[in-house]
Amino acid sequence: MPAVGGIGPGTGKDYPGNLTPFVTVTCIVAAMGGLIFGYDIGISGGVTTMTPFLQKFFRSVWEKKEADKSKNQYCQYDSPTLTMFTSSLYLAALLSSIVASVVTRKLGRKLSMLFGGLLFFAGALINGFAKAVWMLIVGRMLLGFGIGFANQSVPLYLSEMAPYRFRGALNIGFQLSIAIGILIANVLNYFFAKIKGGWGWRLSLGGAMVPALIITVGSLVLPDTPNSLIERGQTEEAKANLRRIRGVDDVDEEFKDLVAASETSKLVEHPWRNLLKRKYRPHLTVAILIPFFQQLTGINVIMFYAPVLFSTIGFKDDAALMSAVITGVVNVGATVVSIYGVDKWGRRFLFLEGGVQMLICQAVVAACIGAKFGTSGNPGDLPKWYAIVVVLFICIYVAGFAWSWGPLGWLVPSEIFPLEIRSAAQSITVSVNMLFTFLVAQVFLTMLCHLKFGLFLFFAFFVITMSIFIYYFLPETKSIPIEEMNQVWKSHWYWSRFVEGLDYPNGAMEMGKGGQDVKEV
Ligand code: BGC
Repeated sequence: MPAVGGIGPGTGKDYPGNLTPFVTVTCIVAAMGGLIFGYDIGISGGVTTMTPFLQKFFRSVWEKKEADKSKNQYCQYDSPTLTMFTSSLYLAALLSSIVASVVTRKLGRKLSMLFGGLLFFAGALINGFAKAVWMLIVGRMLLGFGIGFANQSVPLYLSEMAPYRFRGALNIGFQLSIAIGILIANVLNYFFAKIKGGWGWRLSLGGAMVPALIITVGSLVLPDTPNSLIERGQTEEAKANLRRIRGVDDVDEEFKDLVAASETSKLVEHPWRNLLKRKYRPHLTVAILIPFFQQLTGINVIMFYAPVLFSTIGFKDDAALMSAVITGVVNVGATVVSIYGVDKWGRRFLFLEGGVQMLICQAVVAACIGAKFGTSGNPGDLPKWYAIVVVLFICIYVAGFAWSWGPLGWLVPSEIFPLEIRSAAQSITVSVNMLFTFLVAQVFLTMLCHLKFGLFLFFAFFVITMSIFIYYFLPETKSIPIEEMNQVWKSHWYWSRFVEGLDYPNGAMEMGKGGQDVKEV
């Protein structure tokens, strides 16, 4: 039986190409598409603890919070409209990623990013000027549409542009800008919350226009990826582009493989239906399970609700916002570690190490909160050391996520799909991610109210499950050219039975043998 990690030897190909300044700058600009997503994640949680915001839009939550001061802390924020505010965005993103998959395939990755930027801008504008709850919700839906487009196109763009040896690092630029977006939002919330007159929340929400402009302008100046140009018939331009990106003249071998992959891809009329074929079973499984598990780490409980959570465990409003800033810094720092390590240590190592780290922290946090709050939710006076221990372990947990499931949750799907199903499969990844982000956001406050400290154990259970999945079912994809990924499935102890007979690039050989298999959809 081959090793559970999958591919041992390389695929025998070694495309020439360097980490040129051109590709580096291009990827940095594209990665900024993550800013809009991150900014929003960070802003929502903080805004919902700002008293003037609650008084204006969610008065009942504020009244309940005031009245409940000394009683059950677990339930003080439990309100369906408040959660709808946070989570409506993710439903919109889910829907738009499906439309975005067609745009990304037919019109290119770049145009998808442009749409993302424009829609997000419109949403931020409406939110900044909101006068009623419906405006907030409409604004958030537009933000969601924008995020759907950006998350669909940016990870694919990065994985296609990067020389394969640095693909991990360049792709994680996306996650880094998500983390930076979250941090900036947390810092701004901290200051805007102090603005006298209570309109700071308008700045927080309207401020989303800035990252929206960055990605909009960025998408206008970026080149399209060679893969996408070939896919749309612009082969000459694609070759010139590839030379420029790789910084060498001899790009023939890689170019030939890209064209072959594109030929295969053209024969597929229904990428969605095609995805259901047996030979794509490993891809489909990863497209669904990786984002599902990423959200079931429970990370967004911290990201959306850190201020709420910290004030639940007894921090004053100000201290709660400050703690969110601290977790934000840890998130950014740990993402940098993964940029350094992902192409050296591999994806599997990071996934497994991060899993163990998160598990330990979830157990400790559950024990700490359980010990003080019990099931009544009434802690009495909380000593300072206690708050420090909880924040410390939440930080270690965030670090574990930020160098494993955070970046890899976007990187791994974007690098394993063959071109003919790439856009469709990526939109499944985005949709599943958004669906479970929505569900966690939607039910978290209610779950906290009912499961109490057991909530952390609920997520811990999933962390164990996902680590087992990685150990047995996820092959290592480090240092494998993207158009040759089939090799990793072919040598995997379990998945090989699904992809047998295929050869790289992406089934081109199989096509040579008849092509029928791809055509009959
Ligand atoms: C996830 C988000 C999460 C963020 C935290 C991303 O990879 O998709 O849901 O909030 O990481 O940094």
